[in-house]
Amino acid sequence: MKVVVVGASGTMGSRVVKYLERDGRNVVEASSSTGVSALTGKGLDEAFDGADAVIDVTNFGSFGSGDALGFFKQAGTNLLKSARKHNIRHYLALSVVGAESLVENDYFRAKLVQENLIRASGLPHTIVRSTQFFEFLGGIVGSSADNGVIRLPMVRLQPIAGDEVAAWIAKLIAEQPRNSIVEIGGPEPADLVELANELMTITEDNRPVTADPNAPYFGVSVRHEGLVPSIPAARGKLTYHDWLSRTLRA
Ligand SMILES: NC(=O)c1ccc[n+]([C@@H]2O[C@H](COP(=O)([O-])OP(=O)(O)OC[C@H]3O[C@@H](n4cnc5c(N)ncnc54)[C@H](OP(=O)(O)O)[C@@H]3O)[C@@H](O)[C@H]2O)c1
Repeated sequence: MKVVVVGASGTMGSRVVKYLERDGRNVVEASSSTGVSALTGKGLDEAFDGADAVIDVTNFGSFGSGDALGFFKQAGTNLLKSARKHNIRHYLALSVVGAESLVENDYFRAKLVQENLIRASGLPHTIVRSTQFFEFLGGIVGSSADNGVIRLPMVRLQPIAGDEVAAWIAKLIAEQPRNSIVEIGGPEPADLVELANELMTITEDNRPVTADPNAPYFGVSVRHEGLVPSIPAARGKLTYHDWLSRTLRA
């Protein structure tokens, strides 16, 4: 089975490649750095030639600013056009749990547009929605620093190790397309402030952490339970605590 991973050099893409190769797939690694652009379409036809499946794990570089909508719309259109031309049997893309709760933010609105383009394409597909990767939590906490205080919104997350999402994607792509959205989340939900405290303790960061009902999540307000998956089809096993301990030991 030949699988093209678009966004192969990224946090998720590099992990997906690892699991696909472990499963014996023939993997084509495509990303800007290998000369394939989802945005301009350059190199897509060559990459998709003879492929059975495509996994879209591209990302727009700048989170919360810039033209995320333009990126996901154009990249999605180009990828789907090429996929149709090459009779791709399974098209899988990674989206975000709770994106519909954050539509005031351009990035999350763009993710919904990406999902809609896939549904409207009529291609056999699976849309995987994941909760936040453990690898991403440091960024959320870091971007919430305000005059030496970490000021966080009162929101519950159910984060997951990137590796567990990648392993599931590698499994799903070899199955029949679901032609629907499937969600994956971590083993347990926790308030963002608890997760941040865990991170600060283990990294010996002494800045105070506070939950502020007025603090935004990437510039927009969010419901307390708005980012927790309703009925996840899959659940990671590794806890944030164990992941942090392992990552810091490595
Ligand atoms: N982070 C999270 O917690 C989270 C949670 C749920 C879902 N997701 C979704 O997961 C997806 C992947 O996220 P990530 O964190 O793995 O992203 P990332 O680390 O920023 O990687 C992005 C990848 O996209 C590639 N790329 C960017 N522009 C491209 C273009 N025009 N053409 C081809 N490739 C391009 C990059 O290639 P180069 O490096 O070569 O430019 C890189 O390989 C995103 O769609 C995101 O919405 C993320």
